Amino acid sequence: METKNQEEEEQLVTPWEVSAEKGGKIDYDKLIDKFGCQRLDQSLVDRVARLTGRPPHVFLRRGVFFAHRDFSDILDAYERGQKFYLYTGRGPSSEALHLGHLVPFMFTKYLQDAFKVPLVIQLTDDEKCMWKNLTVEESQRLARENAKDIIACGFDISRTFIFSDFDYVGGSFYKNMVKIAKCVTYNKVVGIFGFSGEDHIGKVSFPPVQAAPSFPSSFPHIFSSKDDLRCLIPCAIDQDPYFRMTRDVAPRIGYHKPALIESSFFPALQGETGKMSSSDPNSAIYVTDSGKDIKNKINKYAFSGGQDSVENHRKYGANLEVDIPIKYLGFFLEDDAELEHIRKEYGTGRMLTGEVKKRLIEVLTELVERHRRARAAVTEEMVDAFMAVRPLPNMFN
Ligand code: TRP
Repeated sequence: METKNQEEEEQLVTPWEVSAEKGGKIDYDKLIDKFGCQRLDQSLVDRVARLTGRPPHVFLRRGVFFAHRDFSDILDAYERGQKFYLYTGRGPSSEALHLGHLVPFMFTKYLQDAFKVPLVIQLTDDEKCMWKNLTVEESQRLARENAKDIIACGFDISRTFIFSDFDYVGGSFYKNMVKIAKCVTYNKVVGIFGFSGEDHIGKVSFPPVQAAPSFPSSFPHIFSSKDDLRCLIPCAIDQDPYFRMTRDVAPRIGYHKPALIESSFFPALQGETGKMSSSDPNSAIYVTDSGKDIKNKINKYAFSGGQDSVENHRKYGANLEVDIPIKYLGFFLEDDAELEHIRKEYGTGRMLTGEVKKRLIEVLTELVERHRRARAAVTEEMVDAFMAVRPLPNMFN
């Protein structure tokens, strides 16, 4: 069974499964080629800075968001005075979010503030009910709990609509779903998502649910008579298949293709071989972890590129390519000069793993502490307010 082996060794990136080539890490260049998206280069980052009049977000400066589809069209239009809206989402499969889950939301908040545009956030409780074998009620409960973590990221209520599929799907949203579904053959979804004859039909029919928010007419209470408004979707690159399908369909039903800005995955503590696994609590830092948990996990599990003895470390320096503390600092230590300093000192062996980990523990403890405080301040009334079907009258001001 040669083909089987070959398949197992190749990297696999779908919305439900991410694994690197055997023993390696995700090859993002290969992924860009395979998916057919574009690399987000420095000139685009500079353009964002120029257009928004603020320094680009750390995730842009450091290449965390590294790929896109038609993002330059969004910027061209914006430059001509045409605004757009943002669309992102979360599948509520667990109670507690880990740091990787926060990445797209932190970035979306920055985009919302920098461009002053409206945002819709989809909670796919239906998706998780079907894929994770959760009950309808449990998925709905998780959606609401997750909404609190999302709100805690600081979204502006005057420009943000959060919805759960179980509550919101219907009306104009459903009409778009049906229009989309009519354009996608069974063979096509099998090709894009790899469904098999054993998968239940709920899975096969789900993709239009995630596609529909890409079109403004799915939200008549916000975007009535704005069918021409463009949509920009910040997401991790594993969501690309949904939007490849959406972009294929869009012109056939009279809409703009949504643009995408896509991130790499936040690596597991044990090393950069894929996404974090929700089944292993020691593979990730959760927003519910205590300071003690964070310290423990980093010291015990964070894969180090340092040498096995102090003597060798001083002599050869750390391998920054595989070092998890350095990767994590790259996401969350905002000071470019300090990061550069640490990289240099650690890479040449003057700084030890323990010292780098100590700095990382400080940075993450502060981040998680800040998130915890913000989440504790989110009331049930605030969740209702963000999720209310309502106009957003000042969404572009
Ligand atoms: N399918 C995504 C998940 O499982 C949730 C989601 C829905 C999403 N719509 C989105 C993510 C748009 C990014 C952008 O997490």
